[in-house]
Amino acid sequence: MSITRREYLRQSGWLAAGFLSPQHTHQQPVTRPVLDPDTLAPFVDPLPIPPVAKASGTRPSPDNAGVRVPYYRLAMRQIESQVHRDVKPTRCWGIGSSSPGPTLETQKGTGMLVEWANELPGAHFLPIDHNLHGAEADKPGGRSIIHLHGGKVRPESDGYPENWYAPGKSAVYHYPNNQDAALLWYHDHTMGINRLNIFAGLMGLYIVRDPLEVSLNLPCGKYEVPLVLYDRMFDPDGQLNYPVSPVPGAPWVPEFFGNAVLVNGKLLPYLEVEARKYRFRVLNGANGRFFHLSLSGGQEFHQIGTDQGLLPAPVKLKQVTLGPGERADVVMDFSGQTGAKIVLNNDVVRPVMQLRVVGAASPDTSSLPKELRPVRRIAETEAVKTRSLMLGEIDDLRGDSAVMLLNNTPWHAPVTENPVLNSVEIWNLMNVTDDAHPIHLHLVRFQILDRRSFNTFAYQYQNAVKYTGGVTPPEPGEAGWKDTVRADPGMVTRIVIPFEGYAGRYIWHCHILEHEDNEMMRPYDVIAAPPAAPC
Ligand code: C2O
Ligand code: CU
Ligand code: CU
Repeated sequence: MSITRREYLRQSGWLAAGFLSPQHTHQQPVTRPVLDPDTLAPFVDPLPIPPVAKASGTRPSPDNAGVRVPYYRLAMRQIESQVHRDVKPTRCWGIGSSSPGPTLETQKGTGMLVEWANELPGAHFLPIDHNLHGAEADKPGGRSIIHLHGGKVRPESDGYPENWYAPGKSAVYHYPNNQDAALLWYHDHTMGINRLNIFAGLMGLYIVRDPLEVSLNLPCGKYEVPLVLYDRMFDPDGQLNYPVSPVPGAPWVPEFFGNAVLVNGKLLPYLEVEARKYRFRVLNGANGRFFHLSLSGGQEFHQIGTDQGLLPAPVKLKQVTLGPGERADVVMDFSGQTGAKIVLNNDVVRPVMQLRVVGAASPDTSSLPKELRPVRRIAETEAVKTRSLMLGEIDDLRGDSAVMLLNNTPWHAPVTENPVLNSVEIWNLMNVTDDAHPIHLHLVRFQILDRRSFNTFAYQYQNAVKYTGGVTPPEPGEAGWKDTVRADPGMVTRIVIPFEGYAGRYIWHCHILEHEDNEMMRPYDVIAAPPAAPC
């Protein structure tokens, strides 16, 4: 029994508990005194909107030297950020002058170049665990590498974790943007310290738009609002507080759950909204927390998109669940509610933010169409290969999780997943742990086939797949193109993946960052052509 099962139960709403609940009996993280957000006045800061990045010029496209594409230079820097009116400024790592960093916006088919400049200090301010693979003490503390999550890009621009670079260096990445309109996000991906670099603040949004989406007349301009959610913990003086294990010299903790939820970098902000429809682009950028978001009063809203863009049709919901790395595109209608103060709630950690409805400045001419983007369901018969991949964890003698593995294979073992470019595969994610793992594949988009409970003991020790329940189709809000999927505990989660884009070395991993940093990440190769037959 590990803490992860309890956390799953807690997050599923079975156990109502605050952070660091007494259920965490095994590996109680050691923390310094912590700021209690309940002592702060709620809803005193307006919701900040990350600035939209501006190109510094154009350069020839790597795809076609006759075409010039915008060139951006974004610098990673140590900055100070005020998370709440009454909290002292917090040291964090941002992009430019903010965390989340500037939003990159683009059109489908219009490429861009981004120079990711590392201007971070030489030393880290969070507790690096040098026992983790790739996080040895001889490496520079301020190293980084940025990955575009959900981007269909060549391997050399994908941000391979081992290709980190030191302060003073940069990398220029090419994003072709040959993909449907969607909310993507960029974040650090440095081997072994990814959880710390993202916790420090190295992330931002990336929006791809396309003509079909524009033709839908969804709420836009100031009526389209990004919401980047993540939880943090602070010292009483407002500094980031990342817990460490009780083991001296081995500070890694198996999961992080904070008591303060930030939206676009603010704690308990408010947003003034007009009495009309709004489109919210929501990202779960947390290290490990699943969000279960709802509006006060049980107000309904519509989900119109998921990780990789629009759903076939809006889905009416009272609650939306987002695992780390997942996105939801939602439309909320505040018409007829002038004067109302609506709260966006999470299930376990207090209110997230307040929406103050004021009279509409002008009539709402936006629409919420009944049909959005057709999503062709991929038939299982299109798959040329099915792989069964185990999500496992190895506990230490106290029953604490010591390492998390994909298919019992560590990061540095030879590649085992090698799909052929333009082929379709089915991956069965066999989760034998007590934890839900959000599994993400770079490069591709995929569809969820179904989930089904199975006997994890028989699978691990008798090499037999014995189902113990019926087949559950994806939830309506998951029935589009995904790049991150919740693999529930004790379940086989099946996804069908067209491997389109580029050949080369990519990765797949759990998006709980503490897991990812401790071996729950694997390289995979997209092979350009089937290997030649042996002679
Ligand atoms: Cu959100 Cu490997 O990434
Ligand atoms: Cu990614
Ligand atoms: Cu995991």
